Amino acid sequence: MRIAMIGAGYVGLVSGACLADFGHDVVCIDRDPAKIAALEQGRMPIYEPGLESLVADNVRQGRLSFRTELREAVAGADAVFIAVGTPSRRGDGFADLSFVHDAAREIAGALSGYTVVVTKSTVPVGTGDEVERIIRETVPQAEFAVVSNPEFLREGAAIGDFKRPDRIVVGTEDPRAEAVMREVYRPLYLNASPILVTGRRTAELTKYAANAFLAAKITFINEMADLCEAVGADVQQVARGIGLDGRIGTKFLHAGPGYGGSCFPKDTLALAKTAQDHGMPLRIVETVVAVNDQRKRAMARKVIRACGGSVRGKTIALLGLTFKPDTDDMREAPSLAIAAGLQDGGAKVRAYDPEGIEQARPLLPAVSFAEDAYSCAEGADAVVIVTEWNAFRALDLKRLHMAMRTPVLVDLRNIYDPAIAAQHGFAYQGVGRSAGTASTSEA
Ligand code: UDX
Repeated sequence: MRIAMIGAGYVGLVSGACLADFGHDVVCIDRDPAKIAALEQGRMPIYEPGLESLVADNVRQGRLSFRTELREAVAGADAVFIAVGTPSRRGDGFADLSFVHDAAREIAGALSGYTVVVTKSTVPVGTGDEVERIIRETVPQAEFAVVSNPEFLREGAAIGDFKRPDRIVVGTEDPRAEAVMREVYRPLYLNASPILVTGRRTAELTKYAANAFLAAKITFINEMADLCEAVGADVQQVARGIGLDGRIGTKFLHAGPGYGGSCFPKDTLALAKTAQDHGMPLRIVETVVAVNDQRKRAMARKVIRACGGSVRGKTIALLGLTFKPDTDDMREAPSLAIAAGLQDGGAKVRAYDPEGIEQARPLLPAVSFAEDAYSCAEGADAVVIVTEWNAFRALDLKRLHMAMRTPVLVDLRNIYDPAIAAQHGFAYQGVGRSAGTASTSEA
């Protein structure tokens, strides 16, 4: 199959490289000449484990190439994927669809022969109809179908998620388009990944519903963690206790500082807006958005409490800045609200992140950056684990303790056993665990 991928951002690049790896001929197109030039030299615009070598392999084997111009690739394509950004529109939280609409217009002018146009970007319900209308209006005689094919990729695990998906959702009522999409994903039949063919609007909504549900699951356990702290219970054991019920499931029940990233915050907001527009407000989703926003700032207050009620003049070391490990993405990262809250309280904030410092620097102008965890902790009055990078899971606690002025350890990801931290002389605070409770033991 010949595939044109419009947008060489996160979704476009990962999807394009994986589709090429399936054996398809893929051209990734992006308007940004600097990005394309870098890709041609093998430099990735994002940090994603395994991506650089996957791109290099497929470029070498002649199945993957990059362009700034879409005309030729679209004309020759069986399927054209739209994977451009859909940021939150400033002011109202609706998804900004101008890039999607621009892409549709450009694609229309280049179509030749029957082509399936696939929206991969996360787009509100009804966007497929709009893309179809734009193409039809621009070139009335074009032969095409518009399909919704949402992605469910997690940053840091995106290649694995693409190649071993739990499911593939294809929204189309056109049998010819369905056949093309089945061919695109045929290599996955071997893994027996189910393909769910639905109406286009249903597919569009499925993506939002999945993200909203996961965001709600996280928010649920986060609130439960606060209650655990108040009543002296252990949230990790509660999570295990409920998660082993097959109807609930153990995943996405890790209490923490609140979800961030490029998807959950944006998509929950956009879904809530769409629902309001249809006169069907989604109260649960609206509450999830509000609770999660407040939680990030509340984490700064938690650190201040752990420091005895004031951080004025104190140095606080943040370990981890990205919204989760294995990415350099700082979008909506809890670290931003935490650093601001601590600085407002008069603290000096020093930070270290294995991959995120370059992205973080402009967003955290008053923060100083360290080269590693131990130099970050040097002379600090508290160390706060904000992101659970593997590099922070097995710190030498003795060395960490020796580096610090006051041994306060606030572990917002519960990666340390409170009892062990206490043995090393730390005043330890996790999330949803009273200090000194040991982690779960299962018989
Ligand atoms: C998410 C979805 O998982 C993915 O399917 C969708 O396509 C895009 O959005 P991503 O944003 O990359 O992926 O990260 P994810 O691993 O889902 O984590 C999102 C946020 O939730 C992170 O801030 C993470 O720290 C937080 N989280 C996740 C928790 O706090 N607790 C959990 O149990 C799981």
